[in-house]
Amino acid sequence: MKKLLVTGGAGFIGANFVHYWLTLHPNDNVTVLDALTYAGNLGSLMPVMANPHFRFVKGDIANTALVEQLLLEERIDTVVHFAAESHVDRSILGPDAFVQTNVVGAHSLLKAARNVWLKEPAHPLSHRFHHVSTDEVYGSLESDEPAFTEATPYQPNSPYAASKAASDHMVRAYYQTYGLQVTLSHCSNNYGYYQYPEKLIPLCIHHILQGKPLPIYGDGKQIRDWLFVEDHCRGIELILQQGHVGESYNIGGMNEWQNIDIVTLLCDLVDAEFAAAPVLTKRYPNAPYAKGISARSLITHVQDRAGHDRRYAIDCTKIEKTLGFKPTESFASGIRKTLHWYLDNQRWVEEAENRDYQTWLSQQYDNRS
Ligand code: NAD
Ligand code: TYD
Repeated sequence: MKKLLVTGGAGFIGANFVHYWLTLHPNDNVTVLDALTYAGNLGSLMPVMANPHFRFVKGDIANTALVEQLLLEERIDTVVHFAAESHVDRSILGPDAFVQTNVVGAHSLLKAARNVWLKEPAHPLSHRFHHVSTDEVYGSLESDEPAFTEATPYQPNSPYAASKAASDHMVRAYYQTYGLQVTLSHCSNNYGYYQYPEKLIPLCIHHILQGKPLPIYGDGKQIRDWLFVEDHCRGIELILQQGHVGESYNIGGMNEWQNIDIVTLLCDLVDAEFAAAPVLTKRYPNAPYAKGISARSLITHVQDRAGHDRRYAIDCTKIEKTLGFKPTESFASGIRKTLHWYLDNQRWVEEAENRDYQTWLSQQYDNRS
C-alpha cells in the first residue's frame, strides 16, 4: 500500500491524477498539498473529500517544515510533484512567482524529502520523488525537425520553461549528490477535465459559450502535441511502478495540431452540439449558434505571444519500449469528452474564477493537524 503526497492536487493535472489514482488504487492513501493559488480549485477534489484514504492540506511547497511534518505524519513514501505556476503568458508578464514556486518551492520540497527520507532513522526503506516537468524545457522545433527525445539538449525560451528546467536540474542533482530516489517526466500539452479556462482549449469553449472573441496569437500556425490528461496519469503510474530511478521519460499524445485547426474544430463541435440539443440555446443565449451564426465568427487574430515557441513534439519511444506506454484516447473522442464535460460543468468554471468561494471552501476542508 502506497502513501502518496500529491503537490498541486487542486490544479488541473493534479486533480485528475488524484481521481485516477484513488479509482485504481483504492487502498492507497493520498494527501494533497496545495496553496490554492488562482489556478487551484477545491471543487475539483469534492468527489474524494469524504474518502477516508484522502486528506487535503492547504499550504505552500516552499514551507519546508510543513512538508516534513506531512511526510512524517502520513508516513509518505511517494511524492508526485505537480505544484507549479504553469501559464506561459503569466510568466512573461511576471516571472517572479515562477522562480519562487517552480525553483525555490521545488527545492524546498526536495530538501524536505531528503531530510525525512535520507536522514530520519525511521524513514521508509524505499521512497520515490516524481517530478512532473514539461516538453517546453527542450525549446522550439521547426516543422521538419525530429520530435524531442530525453536526450534533446535543454533550450527553454519562456521564463516558465526556464523555471521548470531549473527545477529539473535540481531534482537530478539531489539524485546524483544525495541519492534521493527520483524520476522525471516531460509531457506535452494536456487537455481534459478540470483545466482552468486560461489555457487554449477550455478558454475557447468558455468564450464560445459566452459569445466572446477567440484570441489566436499571431498566425495560429504554432503546433502543439495534445495529450489526454488520463493518458498522462497512466504514464506517471507506469513510471512510479516500473520506471528506473534517476531517469527521465517523455510522455506525449502523438497528436500534433496547429492552434488554428484546434480552434476551428472546437467551433464546429460546439455548433454541432447546439444543433443536436436545443436546450443549449436556452442555457447559453450568447453563444453564436443561439444567434444564428457560426462559432467561427468569433475567431480573432491578436498580437503574437513574445518569444512564442513554434512547435513542440514528443518522441515517446523510451516510455513505450521500456514501460509499454501508448496513449489510448483518440483525439476525436478525447476532445468530445472534454467538450461534454465543460458543457455540463460551467458551474465548475464559475467557481474556479470565484476566489471568495475558494477561500470559503478551503476553510471547510483544510485538514491540518
Ligand atoms: P495548474 O496551474 O492547473 O495547477 C497548479 C496547482 O499548483 C494549483 O492547484 C495551484 O494552487 C498549485 N500551486 C501553485 N503554487 C503552489 C505552491 N507554491 N505550493 C503549493 N501549491 C501550489 O497546473 P497543471 O496544468 O495541472 O500542471 C501541473 C504540472 O504539470 C506543472 O508542474 C506543469 O509545469 C506541468 N505540465 C503541465 C502541462 C499542461 O498542459 N497543463 C504540460 C506539461 C507540463
Ligand atoms: P497554452 O494553452 O497557453 O499552452 P502552452 O503555452 O503551454 O503551449 O497555449 C497553447 C497554444 O495556444 C500556444 O501556442 C499559445 C496559443 N494560444 C492562443 O493562440 N490563444 C490563447 O488565447 C491562448 C491561451 C493560447
